[in-house]
Amino acid sequence: MVDNSYSPGLEGIVAGISGISEIDTDKNVLSYRGYNVQDLCDRSSFEETTYLLLFGELPTLQQLADFNEQLKAERDVPKAVLDVLSNIPTNAEPMDWLKIAVATMGIMDPLADDNSSEANLTKAIRLTAKLPAVLAHGYRIMQSLPPVSSDPSLSHASHFLQLLTGEKPDPFAVEALNTTLILYAEHGFNASTFCARVTVSTQSDLHSGVVAAIGTLKGPLHGGANEEVMKMLLEIGTADKARAWIDKRLTKSADNPRPRVMGFGHREYKNGDQRAKIVKGYTRALADSLGDHRWTDIADVLEDYMLQEKGLHPNLDFPVSPAYYMMGLPIPLYTPIFVLSRIVGWSAHIIEQLANNRLIRPTNIYNGPSLKPYVPISDRVRTTS
Ligand SMILES: CC(C)(COP(=O)(O)OP(=O)(O)OC[C@H]1O[C@@H](n2cnc3c(N)ncnc32)[C@H](O)[C@@H]1OP(=O)(O)O)[C@@H](O)C(=O)NCCC(=O)NCCS
Repeated sequence: MVDNSYSPGLEGIVAGISGISEIDTDKNVLSYRGYNVQDLCDRSSFEETTYLLLFGELPTLQQLADFNEQLKAERDVPKAVLDVLSNIPTNAEPMDWLKIAVATMGIMDPLADDNSSEANLTKAIRLTAKLPAVLAHGYRIMQSLPPVSSDPSLSHASHFLQLLTGEKPDPFAVEALNTTLILYAEHGFNASTFCARVTVSTQSDLHSGVVAAIGTLKGPLHGGANEEVMKMLLEIGTADKARAWIDKRLTKSADNPRPRVMGFGHREYKNGDQRAKIVKGYTRALADSLGDHRWTDIADVLEDYMLQEKGLHPNLDFPVSPAYYMMGLPIPLYTPIFVLSRIVGWSAHIIEQLANNRLIRPTNIYNGPSLKPYVPISDRVRTTS
């Protein structure tokens, strides 16, 4: 029997069962496998959080040491992938060439078509380990910069920063990046994760699920928002112009009947996003250490004004964006950095979906024309131009 109830955007629709993360909107707590993300940010690393999300439990000392070695051993990017990236137009968006890089790694992975949990864990670890180098090398290729190497002993976050810049990363920047990587890693049935689950529910492979998810994350209503936030702050320029900018932005027009301010609002969080509060501390500390409060001053005005005018709170992308900017990261890499982290959540969901799979195939309400007779082409008369 078809249930004809319909919720636009599937708001409030339960689309599956998952044991990976919980968004408790009453307590305003996000937890991964039962652990509050606040504790993970305070006491864990991205690597340990990755282990937790992929294996379901926090590792012992030995398990974490082995896992770190496994990640480090898989860091190098196949030359064929770098060759492919070298032949892409240099004006291509990083989110677009990341899809190509992941698809190429899929073609080269000997386990590509093995959809067992074991094989998918191996592929997930490989992708998690390699993506920072793919992004950093790819970016340098597109900018015609020479490749640089990183110290093999570095943590995941420092390794990425060193490969990108060629310089020894600042410890506070590493800590800030580590925190955002933990917070971006997983978030239930968000659009890109759901897309990955839909893809593998056809018994397609993990790399295909990840490529589809990257394409979904790219949009400004999802991961793409973090790049849009910084563009907005730059356009506003100074805190005294922030309110007028918002007033103009929120003016409805025929072309823009549903105006949006990026970095605000969330389908799940209506009373604030715990993750945004955590990152805001880093954003402020970065501004203090630089002695430059331009971006945090604008952000403060926007935050107060959006709450007053629209009752909306900032989401995670809002404080992440100026934090990355003050860390010197190029704006076109903000959403791809989200990929370096969410690869973990996507992989955990792909494995969970396949462990108890049923094809995801919802239905729709038809609103097209009713049945009509087929008129032979020679008898058709155009009534409209
Ligand atoms: C995240 C988001 C897509 C959630 O969407 P949603 O649950 O479908 O909520 P809606 O977009 O339907 O918003 C409902 C109402 O809240 C308001 N609203 C929500 N987010 C808004 C925003 N960022 N700016 C302005 N108004 C917003 C609007 O009044 C909207 O009503 P309208 O459609 O009549 O204009 C939405 O809040 C948004 O577009 N945010 C900006 C993009 C962003 O930061 N994305 C990253 C999310 S982590």
